[in-house]
Amino acid sequence: MGQFTSEEKEAMKAEAGIAACAFVENGMRIGIGTGSTVKYTILELGRRIREEGLEISGIPTSDATESLSIEQGIPMLEWSDCEHLDLVIDGADEFDSELHLIKGGGGALLREKIVAESSGGMIVVADASKRVEVLGEFPLPIEVNPYGWEQTKRRIEAICGGVVNRRGPDYLTDNGNPILDAHFGPTIEDPVKMEADLRAISGVVEVGLFTDTADVVVLAAPGGCELIRKPTARL
Ligand code: A5P
Repeated sequence: MGQFTSEEKEAMKAEAGIAACAFVENGMRIGIGTGSTVKYTILELGRRIREEGLEISGIPTSDATESLSIEQGIPMLEWSDCEHLDLVIDGADEFDSELHLIKGGGGALLREKIVAESSGGMIVVADASKRVEVLGEFPLPIEVNPYGWEQTKRRIEAICGGVVNRRGPDYLTDNGNPILDAHFGPTIEDPVKMEADLRAISGVVEVGLFTDTADVVVLAAPGGCELIRKPTARL
């Protein structure tokens, strides 16, 4: 993480966020992710709407994304009128060689997963600092029900083996739930099993492991942008 200056990282975020817009075509319904990389996607889509007449609509994954999208003139859809999205563009906190992800650093994991699972494909925008061999250096965000969260935390700790911290005593997601950040360290060798094990705990609302969900990573590195496609990519 530390190998890039903050200016270099910002430039990479902008490059990835903008490059992902090449997947967006007229008439599409898109999922709009959350975070400092997708911010550049939203700004670029706003530009294309204003300057090129691009016609799209979208579902946001957080209140913050909704506000920025509206500000940029992107028409918003309601779930009551939308059963399927063409694609979603979203960020990640880590991704591995199989394009399994850790997400939720910004606390939007539940909505992000609902949107990703409703989309015909998922494009991840990331800078080079997000690429890892084994997931888990980034503390895994887990959204939990407020009822008995202390007990849910103990049950997560039994699986995690490391420290599990509640994210700020007053921090709540857009859904009104606390987040627990589980410090695994780079040990999540089987993210598919870990996602299932954690989701099986009553009190866990959603886990920030997104396995077999992403199709493409638009990866920005100092030398330029690279597209990493899963062999089974839908896009
Ligand atoms: C939001 O909850 C997260 O899943 C973000 O997508 C993730 O944290 C990446 O954000 P940045 O692009 O800000 O690093």
